[in-house]
Parts: sequence; C-alpha cells; structure tokens
Amino acid sequence: MCGIVGYIGKNNAIPVVMQGLQRLEYRGYDSCGIAMMNSDKMILEKVTGKVEELQGLLARQKMSSSVAIGHTRWATHGPPTISNAHPHTSQDGKVALVHNGIIENYKVLRDGLISAGYEFSSETDTEVIAALVSQAYHGNLEQAVREALSYVVGAYGLAVIHTDEPEKIVCSRKGAPLIMAMGDGEFFVASDVAAILHYSKDVIYLDNEEIGILTPDGVKIYSGDDEPVDKKIHKITFNLEEIEKGGYEHFMLKEIFSQPQTIFDAMRGRLLPETGDAHLGGIDHMIGSILHADQRYFTACGTSWHAALIGEMMFEQFARIPCEVEYASEFRYREPLVDAKSIVFAISQSGETADTLAAIQEAKTRKATVLGICNVVGSSIARETEAGVYIHAGPEIGVASTKAFTSQVTVLSLLTLKLARLMGMSREDGLEISQAMQKLPENVEWVLKQADQIAEIAKLYSDASNFLYLGRGVNFPVALEGALKLKEISYIHAEGYPAAEMKHGPIALIDKSMPIVAIAPQDKTYDKIISNIEEVKARHGRVIALATEGDTRIKDIADHVLYVPAALSFTAPILNVIPLQLLAYYVAVERGCNVDQPRNLAKSVTVE
Ligand code: F6R
Repeated sequence: MCGIVGYIGKNNAIPVVMQGLQRLEYRGYDSCGIAMMNSDKMILEKVTGKVEELQGLLARQKMSSSVAIGHTRWATHGPPTISNAHPHTSQDGKVALVHNGIIENYKVLRDGLISAGYEFSSETDTEVIAALVSQAYHGNLEQAVREALSYVVGAYGLAVIHTDEPEKIVCSRKGAPLIMAMGDGEFFVASDVAAILHYSKDVIYLDNEEIGILTPDGVKIYSGDDEPVDKKIHKITFNLEEIEKGGYEHFMLKEIFSQPQTIFDAMRGRLLPETGDAHLGGIDHMIGSILHADQRYFTACGTSWHAALIGEMMFEQFARIPCEVEYASEFRYREPLVDAKSIVFAISQSGETADTLAAIQEAKTRKATVLGICNVVGSSIARETEAGVYIHAGPEIGVASTKAFTSQVTVLSLLTLKLARLMGMSREDGLEISQAMQKLPENVEWVLKQADQIAEIAKLYSDASNFLYLGRGVNFPVALEGALKLKEISYIHAEGYPAAEMKHGPIALIDKSMPIVAIAPQDKTYDKIISNIEEVKARHGRVIALATEGDTRIKDIADHVLYVPAALSFTAPILNVIPLQLLAYYVAVERGCNVDQPRNLAKSVTVE
C-alpha cells in the first residue's frame, strides 16, 4: 500500500515530491508527510488526511530544498495519526525514512531496542528501521541501511536520508515495488512510475535487496551482495494523459467507458478470426506444458480471483482440461498439491499484490512452473514469473478494478480458445467464438449506451442497505464481481450467489427493501433463473434483471430490465459485467461516496 516519492537535484524538491504524492493518492491513504534537508538540518512535516493539506502547510512556510522524501500512508501498525505517519525519524533526529510493506519481526526488534534504552515515538513497524539505520550509521548511509535491513524480516520498499550526508538518498526494496528515475541533473525514487512520469520516462526497476544511491551526480545500484549492478533503463511509453480523467467525473467512469478499446487492445494481434484460433506470444512456447501438466491452478485476489473463476469454467467447458482456482492468500497455507509437473497462473492487475507474490513463491518452492497474467509492465509479478501475458489495459487508477477485469477475462478467453483448438475444438466452433470475440468492443459500446438508464435505476436503490446478485454458470463469478464492485465503492452490503443457492438460505433475507440483481441471459439456464426471479417476487423483493436484447417475457416479472446483446457463453461474462460496474458506480455517486478512493481500500495491496 502507500506511496513513496523522493527527489534529489538542481530544482526545488518540495513541489516535485508533493506532485508525486498527489499522483499516488489514487492508491488510497490516510495520512502523509515529507522530510527534507535544509543545509544539514532535517525538516519534517506530516498531516492526517489529504495531501492538499500538507501542500497548504508547506506553501505557507515558503521553503525550498534540493533533497526530500515523501510518503502517503495506509495504516497497518497503529491508527492514522501524525506520530504514525511517515517519514519516521531516528531518536537523534538524524535519520528520516519512508517505508512501504510490513516488517514481520518488528516487535522483537523493537523490544530489543527498548531494553537497550531506545525511545520510540510511534506505534509503527517502520520506526524500527529508522532506529536500526541510526544505530548502524558510521559515516556511510548505504552501509548503515544494508546492515539495518539484514536484521529485518518482511517486505519493504524504502527511502532514507541522513543529516550527516545531506546530499544523498538511499533506497532499497524487497517484496514491495520501488523504481528510480533519471532526469536532467535530477533523480527520483518512487513506489510507482505515475509519481514521477511528469519529470522522467527513464526508469530503473530495483530488484529485491538491491540498494540504490541517489546523489546530485547520478544514481548507483548495488546488489544484495554489495556488488555494483549495471541496470537496464526502461523507457516508459504511456503518458500522463493516460492517467488523467479525460473529461470524465471519475477515473472509474473513464475506465468503464474505455473498455471497448482496452478489450480490443487485449486481443490485438492475438485473436486469429480467419482461422478461429489465438496466439499469445508470451506463453505460446509453454502451451505444451500447460496441456500436459498434472495440475493447473489459477491464483489471484479480489477481482482478479473472479476473473480466475471464469477462466476455470472456460478451461473446463471448452478445452475440457481441469484446473483449480485458489485465493492467493490461502494458497500457501493449504499445502497445495503442486510439483514440477504443475502449472500455476498468477493473475494480477497491479503485479504487486503481496498475497499473490507469496503464492508465486510457494509454487516456485514446490518447483511448479509459474506464469503471469498481469497489467503493469515490469511489475514484481511480471518479473517473478517464468513467462506470461500482459493484458495491456493501460494504467488503472480507480481503486475499484473494472477495465483490468474485462481484459483479464479477454486474455483468459484467448488462452482457452488456443487450448480448446489443440484439444479438438472444430474449426467451425473456433471461427464462431473468435468472430464473437471480435465483435466484443462493438457490443460493449452498445451496453455502455444504457448508462443513463442505469443511473436512473441507481437513484431508486441508492438507499438500500443490502443487495443480492444472482447468476448461474459463468455468470456466478460475474454476480460475485458485481457485488464486490457495489460494496467497495458504495459501502452497501452486497453478496453474489449462484441463483439456485438462494433458496438454501439467502431467501430468508428477501423482503420489499431488498434489491436483487438477477443475471438472466437467454442461455440454457434461462428457465431456471426465471423461476428464481418468480421466487423473489413472491416475497416482494425488487428485481433488476440483466437480460438478452429482445427478451420481452422478463419485462413482465422484473421491476427493471437492463439489456445486453445476445452472446455466446464464451463472451457473456464480459458483456454482463459492464452494467453491474455502471450500477455500482452510479449508486456510489448517488450516495456521495468517494468513488475513486473508497475508504479503507488501496489500489495495490502490498501487505499480506
Ligand atoms: C477490486 C479490486 C481488488 C483487487 C485485488 C487484487 O475492485 O481492485 O479486489 O482485484 O486487490 O489486485 P491485483 O489484481 O492488482 O493483484
């Protein structure tokens, strides 16, 4: 979670760091702070709440500095207070440090330091590292940081300054992302490229345990074994506009509306509609191993886990190959039956989710081949996996994932098509599926045109306290995703259920104040789901049905009908989730919620 930005160079560091922190606001945070050098004096400012407030405070002080580190915090150890906000300083005030991640053995380290007479001023795990750096400091900050980190168990991305070496920032990472970037006579460190993109597109991705040193003369990087490392400089190809709102009221809305393009981008050069097939450059060489693996797993969290459930159903239904889905956070604790003959797919938008990274480590330890399906290029998951496929959805800023989900499902559909053809799916069936996929962007446009109608329905239900989402087959994960979107951004309790399961329990909840969203396309489950809707109506529940264009029968039973174009079960989940994303969005707006930065959530969850 959280964000780090550091600057050293010929210009005033304060506006650079503050702008960077603002660019990281979308990740979610509850307090923020900055430490800067003023000749050899350390100046520290922190606030709880918005970066704007910190900015106002600094503007009144009219300060300037050529070295600064800043941070947005999302509380893990200790509540969001000024004393718990970063940067944290050492007791003698000489070290200031910002940190993302979690130090697992902080309690032991803290107790040891306290018994040696050290006084802490916060409840955080981070302050322990500042203390360790201070104790290990003998005139060389990078050596002190290296020594301090040798005592630490856990995950970190951090940046440190010291008053005795005022023209230096030292940074390091393990399990939490950190990049360094180069400008003209100025150098940056950040937890996310978005923070510094305005100033530089030349980026170095630090690897685990590497130590980076930034001075006004340039950057140096040393390996975990203290050897100089010659790192590749990556040119960032996306621009700032891509991470700005482009006229939409919220990033989430922009991202929902960008889906015709992002789905197209996920398929570009991969879907082969002339032959009814697909190819995925990043993993084509692994297809034989995927087909012949003893076990196949998908592991992921949250929305990406819902995409994985759809992938599992598609693998089984169309390619006729078995596969399992496991929450990444559970994967390593269930002693998974994976070995050298297993394939594990890790699915992640950010590529930085700590639980998913831990699952990857577990799978690797058990010698499985791990493949990634990721959005963020160069992310930890992209680098930790043997091969993979990028979904090419572009930066996703809204905390609630929308376009990444449909792009993940698109990539999983392509992979299914490829495997299915190899497993004997006929050319005719392949052609039918690939042509349906080709029409997806156009069909998604069609669904998006109903945004105004959905906004009207949202007004009627924005005061509900509970929602139930029902779907069958491949629409069950879609129901889960619709419910997750609603609860994340509107704080309404919502649950997704396989429609028939309703009568095994949740039906007890239904009364006239309970809206039910029923995904009821005209497929083989249609008659059954119509019966489920009747059961809801018999108990005075209010039904918003998602139905196939032209279905008039459903109008007589449901209170509201949202139409989607007729679709194969292969493309249905992508089309069906769009109205649910819009419904969640408009309900949240109606309730006055902060759609892009919902409370308690962060864009990439880099703690386990
Ligand atoms: C939901 C959401 C989260 C993420 C989850 C995994 O809208 O954004 O549930 O899907 O934290 O994140 P990634 O995909 O980045 O691994």
